Amino acid sequence: MYRLTEAQKTKVKDLLSQMTLEEKIGQMNQESMSIVGGFNVPIGEVVEMVEDGRISMEEFGKIMSGVHQDYHEDEIRAGQVGSLMVQDPRKCNELQKIAAEESRLGIPLMFGFDVIHGFRTVYPVAIAEAGTFDTDLFARTARMAAKESRAHGVDWHFAPMLDVARDARWGRVSEGPGEDPYLVTQFAKAKVEGLQGDMSAPENYVAACLKHYVAYGACESGKDYNTVSMANSMLYNTYLPPFKAAVEAGAATVMASFNDLNGVPCTLNPFTLRSILKERWNFPGFVVSDADAIRECINHGIVADKYDAGKQSANAGMDVDMGSQVYKQYLQQAVESGEVPMAVIDEAVERILSVKMWLGLFDHPYVPEEIMDPYETLPKEHTDLALEAAERSIVLLKNENGILPLKKDQKISLVGQLAGSKEEVIGAWAMSWEEKDCVSIQDGLEKAGATFQYYPCCGPETDLNEEEIVAACAYGDVIVAVVGELVNMSGEASSRADITLPGKQRELLEKLLASGKPVVAVLMNGRPLALKWEAAHVPAILECWHLGVQMGNAVARVLFGNKAPEGRLVSSFPVVTGMCPIYYSHPSTGRPGGRSKFTSRYLDEGFEPLYPFGYGLTYTSFAYDQLAVQEADDALCITVDVTNTGNKAAVETVQMYMQDVTASIVRPVKELKGFAKADLMPGETKTVSLRLNKKDMGFYLDDGSYALENGVFRIYVGGNSRDCLMQEVNIQF
Ligand code: BGC
Repeated sequence: MYRLTEAQKTKVKDLLSQMTLEEKIGQMNQESMSIVGGFNVPIGEVVEMVEDGRISMEEFGKIMSGVHQDYHEDEIRAGQVGSLMVQDPRKCNELQKIAAEESRLGIPLMFGFDVIHGFRTVYPVAIAEAGTFDTDLFARTARMAAKESRAHGVDWHFAPMLDVARDARWGRVSEGPGEDPYLVTQFAKAKVEGLQGDMSAPENYVAACLKHYVAYGACESGKDYNTVSMANSMLYNTYLPPFKAAVEAGAATVMASFNDLNGVPCTLNPFTLRSILKERWNFPGFVVSDADAIRECINHGIVADKYDAGKQSANAGMDVDMGSQVYKQYLQQAVESGEVPMAVIDEAVERILSVKMWLGLFDHPYVPEEIMDPYETLPKEHTDLALEAAERSIVLLKNENGILPLKKDQKISLVGQLAGSKEEVIGAWAMSWEEKDCVSIQDGLEKAGATFQYYPCCGPETDLNEEEIVAACAYGDVIVAVVGELVNMSGEASSRADITLPGKQRELLEKLLASGKPVVAVLMNGRPLALKWEAAHVPAILECWHLGVQMGNAVARVLFGNKAPEGRLVSSFPVVTGMCPIYYSHPSTGRPGGRSKFTSRYLDEGFEPLYPFGYGLTYTSFAYDQLAVQEADDALCITVDVTNTGNKAAVETVQMYMQDVTASIVRPVKELKGFAKADLMPGETKTVSLRLNKKDMGFYLDDGSYALENGVFRIYVGGNSRDCLMQEVNIQF
């Protein structure tokens, strides 16, 4: 929990009173290492030149050999830098020494980094991990990542990513916990607790950074950085709740999003930053812009120049400039001209110094030698957690004729370039892993002692190898085809207009199926895919996402039934791309989707997703019965009997949804309000209890006020958002 003692608050105030304006603005300036010399264009452009073929790798190498990495040492010494993006503990200590021992006031630096799903030990991408519906697991992976990164000098995670995302074309769906505000909220609270909760020693916690504030996930047409326009009620009910809950859980920092919201970029938006975050929610930490976003307000056409961008951002409550150097260049002038009040600067700097104080950086600025990068190989405790998270995230989408689990004596043809790749297990936004720690699916099958041959055959961007396909079809009793997306096809700046399997992978599946052998499709991807064809033709489909360093072992354990699939979808899968955005919790319409033409549907594809939110099969089946809803003073107490009707033990994720049938504004057809896990042996029945607090049955109106309205509510309980039992209750609050 981010909170300062009175003594710490006094120290911060003392320090602030000694600072010059230049030093204060220095705290509001975040830098990253820049490349100087060698070439006269920014490094980003050099990389683009390699990618689009303007220069060869050889020329790139020559350029890079002539460059110097600038860590802004002189500026740090002059007190002109408050934080940096670095992840090398020795470099962090070296720079910290300059800040702590050579700058006038000795204010330590903060080192921020994108630790989205693990640091050295990489866990599943968030869209996968969220599907475990296990808040304890969310917190444990965060805590482990915090310790690992702090041993590398990183004390500030640009995570968790809390963007509710409902359009699978958007590449960043992989970084967040899905489409549902309630689940994202549970994820948010657990991640803050995991990152910040263990304050027994400075090396055990980091500052969380809630991002991207706000509504970035609603970017129009799923295109990254795109515009967002929505009613305030939608903002309050769907996009703000995870941030609000994480602020209440004590998150130390927030990152503003790139998008504009109803015409005002979130970088300089006084409504979201000042009125809601800092005033209404009383957020005590600081806000950082997204990379270069202050300068980019010029591109939004909302400010004329950098001076104006800096002035408006600071006045709106943006405390730290990530990398655009606008504050560094123009804020002093804006204060001196009176356009940015000194009080705005003081408030920002007090917030920044407070977070540094809370992190223990004034007393412990350095990474101690004894905890510095302590592992040559990852400790077992870390890889065990990575395996647990990975195997529990896997979602079984289809399993005809009980093809899965496979038997150990079956001969397997393992197919697909992705199956042999170590680096493709990692997922978007992981940068501190080592290849030697990654277990590919091929490695996983080998370690599991499977009888198999590997045939790469085809990948997301490579051609079909006919010879290998023929051999694969001939060898196995069963074919396991690993298909999907490369890591760089999801994440930032990776929107796709067509979310079917990329390249020739569908053709590959067709050819494999033509052999008449049973085919299992193992999907490796960072977003929901449009799998209409695959769902109709491939008998077994296992959604494995990008599962992190232990991916291969996790997939092998699920394939062979050592672990029954437990994961659920946290994003609806459309039948075809044209259905995006698609989500279960849509507002009620006057003509709900149905069979007849004049309903809310597509002529060609109807209205239902291929696989709904909350969906996931396993190696047994479950039945629901005896749903009962009892009203108590302040809550509804809900019980349901869940029976394992098959012959394998497995874990069921019991989901509770609510519908407010009549309200003063249109409400969703269903909203997730709770969930529970039931671990059931074959034939076993358990009565599962869930609770819905009456105070959580309301909704926000356009003005941000919260309404609890009397009337009929429907309570749904089931194993996914579509297949539920239902009870109606009449509630008078
Ligand atoms: C991303 C952020 C990230 C930042 C720093 C930006 O491009 O949008 O999510 O934290 O870069 O790496």
